[in-house]
Amino acid sequence: MFEGFARVWTPALLTRRLKQRPVRVVVAGEAVVLFRGQGGPIGALIDSCPHRAAALSLGRVTPEGCLECPFHGWRFAPDGTNQGAPLNPDARLEMLGATALPVRQAGDFIWIYTAAGEAPPGEPLAPEGLTAPGLARTYVERDWACHWTRAMENMLDSPHLPFVHRKTIGRIVRERMTPASRMDIAWEDTPYGGRATATLDGHGPGAVLDFYRPNIMALTIPVPGRHLRIHAIVTPAEAGRTRLTVAGSRDFATFGLLNPVFAWMNGRIADEDRAVVESSGPGEIPPPGVEPAVGTDRATLMFRAYYHHALRDSAA
Ligand code: FES
Ligand SMILES: [Fe+2]
Repeated sequence: MFEGFARVWTPALLTRRLKQRPVRVVVAGEAVVLFRGQGGPIGALIDSCPHRAAALSLGRVTPEGCLECPFHGWRFAPDGTNQGAPLNPDARLEMLGATALPVRQAGDFIWIYTAAGEAPPGEPLAPEGLTAPGLARTYVERDWACHWTRAMENMLDSPHLPFVHRKTIGRIVRERMTPASRMDIAWEDTPYGGRATATLDGHGPGAVLDFYRPNIMALTIPVPGRHLRIHAIVTPAEAGRTRLTVAGSRDFATFGLLNPVFAWMNGRIADEDRAVVESSGPGEIPPPGVEPAVGTDRATLMFRAYYHHALRDSAA
């Protein structure tokens, strides 16, 4: 299960997308159903009934907050325990549970832990911009045809800004750079992953990129005295498909009517990346050393090392 992405916490769904009906999400090739009864806890189950493998996401949520299988009506609690097998009063329900995953809420997301039957070693680590009170937030969602690692490393890559984003967030770099310019990327390990700071010709720091293992980037845009960040949440879905959520956070112009403007801008920036990333092919990033690298690849090489060391061969 969850090959190449096992034993990690990942955002799986914006909480506001979960209403009365169960929602199916595919994470790293594994179909998961999320559901919640009125005011009750959220459940995350592997979306396959233990009885005859019907998709539980086709079922309904009962008034008691159980998920009822659409085929023979078995009812599962959010922790996966079987609460009823209709027409079979002698069934040993304790033997007939569904596979539950650890689930949490942090920021505006429902997070799942990508392993069943194991206590997670820690809690989800969400960037401050997704959780701090008093910030206005926007979300845009995209579906890219690529391996998630190509999308993730694009988010950690500063030297593409003056090319891919020449008219948006890369404009200032584009205007300042000369044929002799040099970009330096400083990398600092942090408890959550790492921080990359780029300087151009010794000037800066400009934007700061924080990497939250395994799949979140937070870009701090330097506006003196203000909080302005763009987060990329990069979730592997089906093979060759990546779900991208771009979350913006800010502490100014927090008037809600302005949200569509910020969301539109963040969507535009993401759309600028799309063609380049998808052209990298459906395959994963290769191990360090396979593709040539230069100085400005510092942060993406750190991600490659992490992926190949800690995630690629993982399975639950
Ligand atoms: S397949 Fe789910 S109850 Fe039979
Ligand atoms: Fe980009």
